[in-house]
Amino acid sequence: MKLGLFDSGLGGLLITRAVRDHLPDLDILYYGDTLHLPYGNRSDEAIYHYTVAAMDHMFAQDCALIVVACNTASAACLRRLQQEYLPRAWPERNIIGVVVPMLEAATQRGYKHLGLIGTNYSVSSKIFEEELQKINPDMVLEQVATPLLVPLIEHDGLEWAEDILRSYLANMSLDQIEGLILGCTHYPYLKPVLRDILGENVDILSQDDIIPEKLADYLQRHPEYSDKIARNGNISFQVSDLTFNYIQTAHKIYGEAIEVVQYG
Ligand code: DGL
Repeated sequence: MKLGLFDSGLGGLLITRAVRDHLPDLDILYYGDTLHLPYGNRSDEAIYHYTVAAMDHMFAQDCALIVVACNTASAACLRRLQQEYLPRAWPERNIIGVVVPMLEAATQRGYKHLGLIGTNYSVSSKIFEEELQKINPDMVLEQVATPLLVPLIEHDGLEWAEDILRSYLANMSLDQIEGLILGCTHYPYLKPVLRDILGENVDILSQDDIIPEKLADYLQRHPEYSDKIARNGNISFQVSDLTFNYIQTAHKIYGEAIEVVQYG
C-alpha cells in the first residue's frame, strides 16, 4: 500500500518533496486537484464534495493513509471526512490533516503570540483559532487572509509578491509576533521574500519544514497504518487537470525526471 499526499494544486509538490527527503523509502502517491483549484474561495459543500472525490480516487489506488496537506480542505472538512466518510467508505484507512501539527510545532517552540496567513476560507473558518484553544488557550493568534497569493504563485508571479505581502502584513503586529504560520501549502514559495520583510526576529513556520517530522512521528505511533505502507521508494504524481504551467513547475521542483499524469 501507499502513503497519499493530497493538495488542491502546486503547493503540495513542495510538501511531497519535503516528505520524500525525510522518509525516502515510503511508497507515495501525490494527487493535486488542479481542475478545481483554488479551493480557498469556494463553499463548504464544494470543498467537501471535491475532497471526497479525491479521497475515493486515492484510496482506490491503495493508499493506507492520506495526509490532506491542503489547509483549506483540512479546515473545511477534515472532521467530517474522519467522522462520516471514513467509517462508511474506508473503515480500515485513515485521513490526517495539517492544522493541528502546525500549531503543535508553534507551541513546542514556546511561542505566545503568533501570526497566520492563509486563504479566505482557512482564515474565516477560524479552525486555527479553535484548535489553538484546545492546545493552549493563552496564546494569541493574529490571522490575515491573503487570497491573492495562491493565484500569484500558480501563475509564476513571484516578482509581485513582496509589495502584496507588505500590504497584507500591514494588518498584523509584526513587532509582537514570534512566529508566522504559513497556513497554505503554496506559501513555502514565499519564504525568501518573507524573510526579507520580517527580518530575523520572526520565526517562519512552514509546512515543508514541519510536516515531514510530524508525519514520521505519527507513523511511528500508528503501526496499524505505517506497517501497511510499502517501502520501495516509489512515488507517483497525479493531477485532475494537467497544464503546461504545472508540468514546468513540477520539473523546476523535481528536475525533468518526474512524470505527472492526468487522472480522469
Ligand atoms: N492548497 C490550499 C491550502 O493549503 C490553497 C490553494 C487553494 O486555494 O486551492 O489552503
